[in-house]
Amino acid sequence: MDFLPTELPRHIGIIMDGNGRWAQLRNKPRIWGHRMGVKTVDIITSECARLGIQQLTLYAFSSENWQRPGEEVTYLMSLLRRFLLTELRKLQENNIRFNAIGKLDRLPIRVQDAIEHVRDRTSHNTGMTLCLALSYGGRLEIVDLAKALARKVIAGEIAIEDIDETLCQANLYQPDMPDLDLLIRTGGEMRISNFLLWQVSYAELWITPLLWPDFTEQYLHQAIVDFNKRERRFGKVPCQKALATTSV
Ligand code: IPE
Ligand code: IPE
Ligand code: MG
Repeated sequence: MDFLPTELPRHIGIIMDGNGRWAQLRNKPRIWGHRMGVKTVDIITSECARLGIQQLTLYAFSSENWQRPGEEVTYLMSLLRRFLLTELRKLQENNIRFNAIGKLDRLPIRVQDAIEHVRDRTSHNTGMTLCLALSYGGRLEIVDLAKALARKVIAGEIAIEDIDETLCQANLYQPDMPDLDLLIRTGGEMRISNFLLWQVSYAELWITPLLWPDFTEQYLHQAIVDFNKRERRFGKVPCQKALATTSV
């Protein structure tokens, strides 16, 4: 595939939404959509690694998704475990390091074991980091960050005045996670749904009505092409406009 973007986002996050609707459109149970969605995860992970993306973070199960019907949750958990164990070989082949963030202790023990196994086995890989957000909530991450800092203040390790953005970043679930550059959401909803609230600050948003099982490498390329056209100002003024103002 001769896809050559001028600039690659360092960190892509994806809200993989629309599995249930994809299945319902085909008169199948929602879990069928989740099953097909796993194939997309495999394809997109490999393509991001091939392109040289530094980190891909996939929103796979939110802290709010625990409120779904028990059967769906149980199915998602077993699908997740199977995915981790079968994907390991591919992760090794592609030199991908695996990580997971979220309230992992709420997950079934068999899933926790699979996460530990894959994290451990891929820890020496030096290519892309694939991070799954599982039982994850952006607000919970910030709550946990506040607790961690409070404990350090009480223990006398830091002073309140030491708390700045760098120290906050260092106490997130994955302290070395780069800021999100590109946030892709499938399924068409115009919202963040509690994903990476701290890291999303200056991410470029790319939202498509496509449902997750229909997402392909070509759409990923399109998102990166569009990302390249965006002007990321980070609160500053663009050079041309600054010049125009001074010459008035
Ligand atoms: C996203 O697909 C996958 C998870 C949240 C686990 P949905 O299951 O939310 O699919 P829709 O939005 O109902 O179509
Ligand atoms: C977001 O999708 C969570 C994941 C993709 C894991 P949801 O389907 O849970 O989000 P809402 O309910 O539409 O906001
Ligand atoms: Mg949804």
